[in-house]
Amino acid sequence: MALDRNTPNDLNAFWMPFTSNRQFKKNPRMFVGAKDMHYTTSDGRQVLDGTAGLWCCNAGHCRPKITEAIQKQAAELDYAPAFQMGHPIAFEFANRIIDIAPKGIEHVFYTNSGSESVETALKLAIAYHRARGEGARTRLIGRERGYHGVNFGGISVGGIVNNRKMFGGLLTGVDHLPHTHLPGQNAFSKGQPEHGANLADDLERIVALHGAETIAAVIVEPMAGSTGVLLPPKGYLEKLRAITKKHGILLIFDEVITGFGRLGSPFAAQHFDVLPDMMTTAKGLTNGVIPMGAVLTTAEVHDAFMNGPEHMIELFHGYTYSGNPIASAAGIATLETYKEEGLFERAAALAPYWEEALHSLKGTRHVIDIRNMGLIGAIELEPIAGEPTKRAFSAFLKAYDKGILIRTTGDIIAMSPPLIIEKSHIDTLIETLRDVLTHLD
Ligand SMILES: Cc1ncc(COP(=O)(O)O)c(C=O)c1O
Repeated sequence: MALDRNTPNDLNAFWMPFTSNRQFKKNPRMFVGAKDMHYTTSDGRQVLDGTAGLWCCNAGHCRPKITEAIQKQAAELDYAPAFQMGHPIAFEFANRIIDIAPKGIEHVFYTNSGSESVETALKLAIAYHRARGEGARTRLIGRERGYHGVNFGGISVGGIVNNRKMFGGLLTGVDHLPHTHLPGQNAFSKGQPEHGANLADDLERIVALHGAETIAAVIVEPMAGSTGVLLPPKGYLEKLRAITKKHGILLIFDEVITGFGRLGSPFAAQHFDVLPDMMTTAKGLTNGVIPMGAVLTTAEVHDAFMNGPEHMIELFHGYTYSGNPIASAAGIATLETYKEEGLFERAAALAPYWEEALHSLKGTRHVIDIRNMGLIGAIELEPIAGEPTKRAFSAFLKAYDKGILIRTTGDIIAMSPPLIIEKSHIDTLIETLRDVLTHLD
């Protein structure tokens, strides 16, 4: 008998990630189809995707070129090992990524997710210094409210307490910069806020405390996404770059969200014109369609490993699925779709309209801050006293009922629509939200 996939008979077995499982399973919300800007629900409704899935489907859903590339590759070469063997498509994809990367970024190390990209970059940072004879440089510096995935390195340098507190002692030798969220001074800023560049100077304090010769790397999201769209104050990233360079510390940009056009440039590094030593990516790398991540590095980082006898493995690190052929095919088709449709330029061109639309919600009930950049936006709500997160979650449920998908983190609504969005979709998102918030307790 055919399985009716629209109405599973038992939801118990699947332990859902980052979900209130008991609440969800009493009243499930199921997507059964998707096309371009919309999802189809199991009860036959169309839901406008205000979040590109989970910040990943930058070209929209079920794009023919990507689907066909996956189908073709699956029939031609389904899997090939990447340890001591190669297949052309992974090399081709790496070259295409480098074509759009900032000048100075020259190498690609494949992973399967953002979390694995972060672990890889942190390991590379420590190993890089050791390979150069600076083995004492093992400390890793993250930032409060940073999100770097869910593996041990990522939650150690990350700064979201709920993601950390259940999991023991985490990595040792980690310190954190202060976050850059200054609502008192910067609320309702359009784009980059004016105040807070000096928060980068805290790195000098950390260096003075531990000694530069013990610090391997600083990792930050150029724009913190998952913790509620926290933008870098003007001049902040430039300062971080200057201080890290001065002390021989590597700078890692976690571009898992900001990569692939979200800010209107291929990467945030280009948008802000600040070149890190490594960039972590995933999500938009394959339009979210096939799990894949990649760490992009400068030649300097890569070349530090390329010594010793040539028959020796230079880096004892990698994944069974690094550079998987089907993921690589999906990635190439994704990059071609971005290019052919000019989606990064489209994001840049739509950004002012998006900004105005978002900020038109200023003064709407419960709204205490609005933040935006590129095609990303956040609306912060006044929490219900004693019940943090409840108000935004109610907004999420009501918005879903009214046909739009948003995301919430704490009491912040975050939106990051596919870059194919039309102005009429932006209007629908904003007007639906206005209606939801106006009638929300
Ligand atoms: C900046 C950043 N880094 C890492 C990750 C983790 O990616 P993944 O969920 O693919 O492991 C995310 C996911 O949202 C992210 O936003």
